[in-house]
Amino acid sequence: MRLFLDTADIEEIREINRWGVLRGVTTNPTLVEREKQDPERVWKEILQEVDGDVSLETTEPEAGPMYEQGLRLSQMGPNAVVKVPMTPAGLQAGSRLVKDGVRINVTLVFSPAQAILAAEIGAYIVSPFLGRIDDVASDGMYALRQICEIYEVQGYETQVLAASLRHPMHVVEAALAGADIATLPFDVFTKLVKHPLTDVGLQKFDQDWNALQRELKGGA
Ligand code: E4P
Repeated sequence: MRLFLDTADIEEIREINRWGVLRGVTTNPTLVEREKQDPERVWKEILQEVDGDVSLETTEPEAGPMYEQGLRLSQMGPNAVVKVPMTPAGLQAGSRLVKDGVRINVTLVFSPAQAILAAEIGAYIVSPFLGRIDDVASDGMYALRQICEIYEVQGYETQVLAASLRHPMHVVEAALAGADIATLPFDVFTKLVKHPLTDVGLQKFDQDWNALQRELKGGA
């Protein structure tokens, strides 16, 4: 499962990039708004920083303008992936973009039925939003497992990207379910690396190593 960062913050991207595990980035209008900068500048900087797919989201509500905007976004870099929402307009614009050879990510997906539509238009990525499904007292992980199973049974090539992940167990469960990609907010990424036994173990190794250095010095 490839790990993406769900952010438009270039410093967060640089930090995780240094770990050697970053395979892509997803952005959305809310994340870009937080940067308080010209969106084009934000997107360009991310596209240059990341050696992997970067999803840029369309904001036009109607199919025609959404398609035009999607084309422009796709030309921003070879690693640009165009996000379209799971709406009739999104499907219409998305299927035109696919025919033009643009890689699209169908976003705001909350059900297996919607995921079937995304695969049928030849989307490159489908993004089920697990955390937001959980927020309405439903089971996001169950929806993800169903989507992965349907894609497997049907032989769909669209990649399943587990989105709206809120904690490390979401990531682990998404991997078990067979998701191709998981996109994580920065804080979830940093929690993934943490384990109290790692800290305790490191402290003990450190103490023992220092004790050995003292013994060797004393014996000399
Ligand atoms: C995915 O591409 C979305 O940007 C994201 O995962 C949404 O997550 P949220 O529900 O935490 O806003």
